[in-house]
Amino acid sequence: MAMPVHSAYPATRLRRTRSAAWSRDMVRENRLHPSDLIWPLFIANGDTQEPVASLPGVSRIPLSGLADKAKEAIDLGIPCLALFPHTPPGRRNEDGGEAANPDNLMCGGIRAIKDAVGDAIGVLTDVALDPYTSHGQDGLLDEAGYVVNDATVDALVGQALNQAAAGSDIVAPSDMMDGRIGAIREALEQEGHANVQIMAYAAKYASAFYGPFRDAVGSGGLLKGDKTSYQMDPANASEAMREIALDIAEGADGVMVKPGLPYLDIVRMAADRFELPVYAYMVSGEYAMIEAMAAVGAGNRDALLLEILTGFKRAGASGVLTYHAPVAAKLIG
Ligand code: PBG
Repeated sequence: MAMPVHSAYPATRLRRTRSAAWSRDMVRENRLHPSDLIWPLFIANGDTQEPVASLPGVSRIPLSGLADKAKEAIDLGIPCLALFPHTPPGRRNEDGGEAANPDNLMCGGIRAIKDAVGDAIGVLTDVALDPYTSHGQDGLLDEAGYVVNDATVDALVGQALNQAAAGSDIVAPSDMMDGRIGAIREALEQEGHANVQIMAYAAKYASAFYGPFRDAVGSGGLLKGDKTSYQMDPANASEAMREIALDIAEGADGVMVKPGLPYLDIVRMAADRFELPVYAYMVSGEYAMIEAMAAVGAGNRDALLLEILTGFKRAGASGVLTYHAPVAAKLIG
């Protein structure tokens, strides 16, 4: 470590380098780039865009609209889309078997994008059962309503293989079961998907910020209880490092911290400790918070957004998943 050298005021005036825009540009330590952004999209059956009430400005996109979204993202320099399906109630059941259906909405979405633009953009797919279960939990329940680990991992392996076969570039397990990264990695290797990446939702907290997302995928009204028996306690940081270390050991190519803003310390700790990309997910409730401030005139949406995204970079994130990705890319662009 270099010895810090400081001279006292007035030899040092930190306002000197702040006094003109060119100078602020020159000394800026962190810069946003559109390639820092991953854009999550909700997909739905039918042929019209359906607005999500709790996420003003976000709609569920029909399969026929995905090619245009992919082209928009490519034009903006966004390297990757994340897909989340809104499964109709009739296709949900206790064990979420729809997740392994090769003709499910998710697979249709992957194919729609890959058929239209091929490798010009990456497709990341969420691995967890909650968009497919009738109870809204991310896994299989025992008689007592507990989400069982190992049987859920088997189902997640089937789901991940199904997505990889449809053309997913990155499978992203968001379920927080123990051992799922290793099981999925092994199955991908065995089934000829060695180049499919795994981005692990490694440190995913049991958060109150997921509400609008659950509306968007249609599991909010179904969910009984909470997810505290598998998602992390917001009070814990060391445990997040253990989760991340395990996922790396099991074969994750990148790890994610989620939500974003309340967990910037976790992003920083992970970026300092581990030699792999660390992503942050600015989740649905964070999007809604920014939009709510802007709607009541309590702040400027664009300024709020850029400040927050810059905070993720400063904390050491390699990239950010955000529903504001196209808005941000235009502002940065
Ligand atoms: C589900 C999943 C959730 C999110 C991504 N994947 C919600 C949850 O765990 O209940 C939340 C994303 C967001 O709020 O934007 N496995």
